[in-house]
Amino acid sequence: MAIPASGTKVDSPVRRPSRTRRFRERLLDSASRLWWSAKRAVGESGITPLHNLEYLSGLLRLGEWLRAKQAHSQPYFKTRAELFQYVNGEILHAQAVNYLEFGVYQGASIRDWSSLNQNPESTFTGFDTFKGLPESWRLPSGVLPAGYFDVGGKIPVINDPRVGFVPGLFQETLPEFLQTFDPPHRLVIHLDADLYSSTLFVLVALKELLARPGTLLLFDEFSSVQSEFRAMADFESAFRPKLRIAACGGRYFEHVALLAPES
Ligand SMILES: C[S@@+](CC[C@H](N)C(=O)[O-])C[C@H]1O[C@@H](n2cnc3c(N)ncnc32)[C@H](O)[C@@H]1O
Repeated sequence: MAIPASGTKVDSPVRRPSRTRRFRERLLDSASRLWWSAKRAVGESGITPLHNLEYLSGLLRLGEWLRAKQAHSQPYFKTRAELFQYVNGEILHAQAVNYLEFGVYQGASIRDWSSLNQNPESTFTGFDTFKGLPESWRLPSGVLPAGYFDVGGKIPVINDPRVGFVPGLFQETLPEFLQTFDPPHRLVIHLDADLYSSTLFVLVALKELLARPGTLLLFDEFSSVQSEFRAMADFESAFRPKLRIAACGGRYFEHVALLAPES
């Protein structure tokens, strides 16, 4: 074999990939093109059953979340009223609270809370458009259209000076409200807006308050896996709040109470 003179550049022999390797590469290339075509087809199909698959995967995600938080060993109540009573009595000890409710509609839950917690220093503030859902809400059983829960702008009448309302879209009213909001008491945040967008917006806007020791966060439709639960899971993955489950209730984790550790 001739030895090249030093300094002479010698091209290494070009080796053709083996037939098996070429076959494997072609196969991977076809599989990748098929995958992207399938993605496009599914994305553009608008096939409703596919949303059911999304719903199923949401349920699996909820199951994992509940196991990770040891939800099954926490106090569980059949009704929302029983859960509220437990939270007010056993966790808040009926002490003064600053209660914020997102999603008021006709005022059923804010009325429940203001009659349950009679502490004269408590305040109860309800946020709502009072013109119904700002966008449609997709459920596994169908779609509630935008405007559902419309009460024609009428604010509930509750004869209690501790109760007040902030009408309008959360996205428009909450930032201004928070500029002067400095709650002296334990914070109770009740999320009952049903929608993913509304729930996620409120969670992000309140992230500092949610970190205050002892803050209590209530969800009304937690097992709505595509809306309230998804918003909480996404919020958690982005902001990592330290919240633990304090109690649950309703049909399969419909209502969930989470608590920020006291210290
Ligand atoms: C299920 S209802 C609330 C029910 C009420 N908490 C009760 O227990 O009877 C949901 C409410 O959330 C309100 N809502 C949803 N998203 C909103 C947003 N981004 N801004 C203001 N209100 C919103 C709707 O107007 C609707 O009245």
